[in-house]
Amino acid sequence: VRIAATVAEIPSGPPEIPRVLVPTMGALHKGHLELIRVARQQAGPGGEVVVTIFVNPLQFEPGSDLSRYPRPEALDEEACRAAGVDLLFRPREAEMYQSDRSVFVEETSLSQALCGRSRPGHFRGVCTVVAKLFILFAPQIAILGQKDFQQLAIVRRMVRDLNFAVKIVGVPTVREEDGLALSSRNQYLAPEERSQAPILRAALVEAAEQVKAGEKSTAEIVRLTRARIDGAKLARIDYVDLVDAETLESRSAVEPDSLLALAVFFGKTRLIDNILLS
Ligand code: PAF
Repeated sequence: VRIAATVAEIPSGPPEIPRVLVPTMGALHKGHLELIRVARQQAGPGGEVVVTIFVNPLQFEPGSDLSRYPRPEALDEEACRAAGVDLLFRPREAEMYQSDRSVFVEETSLSQALCGRSRPGHFRGVCTVVAKLFILFAPQIAILGQKDFQQLAIVRRMVRDLNFAVKIVGVPTVREEDGLALSSRNQYLAPEERSQAPILRAALVEAAEQVKAGEKSTAEIVRLTRARIDGAKLARIDYVDLVDAETLESRSAVEPDSLLALAVFFGKTRLIDNILLS
């Protein structure tokens, strides 16, 4: 793996071979390795897989977990090497942002829903950094996880609306054996919180089963999901919402392509998960 820390080290001009980008914030786990595996597959034998690791300060709202976000640099480098990554881009903040920066990329519709309500400015930070990475690397394909479903939908919208020539590939969520979605934030969970966290997946799966059995009412599905999660005494619900999977607008009844999404705090750690209801 070649490692680059500055923009000057990025090969300039459009790539001559297929280039697949995997943007991350590091602390790479099995979920990221799955993104890299899909990237390798998409790139083909002659293609190039680029992983970026940048803990993007613009997407952390004030008072959130930016300073305690894990940064295991040597382990991440080793994971990229073992996964056959061609280029690892790991810039410092000053390389990505001028101190007097004044241009941002903002999606104004999908980012109002779900996590956008409790994390103002978050998706503006995500769009701005992802747009910069698309411009810097001009990848043909970029890989993002479906765990951050809203992020995936917003990046797709940005690509559509700003005519980025990149195909976005979403990768299904990788889970622990007990159902907990893999996340760099899981390591913050105290043992008792960790043991209660699989309730999120269990509640989503049960909701999907209710829908399969004929339940159509959003109010009822949300009520059941909330009640199940409230059964875990350390869980504090931020939101449980049933929305259209493309527009992320709330729906009063379950229709094809509905998404049930949630965010729940265990202590200070906020976990998200979702399930598509068909
Ligand atoms: O999902 C993430 O890790 C980040 O939001 C991303 C896409 C790398 C942008 O900083």
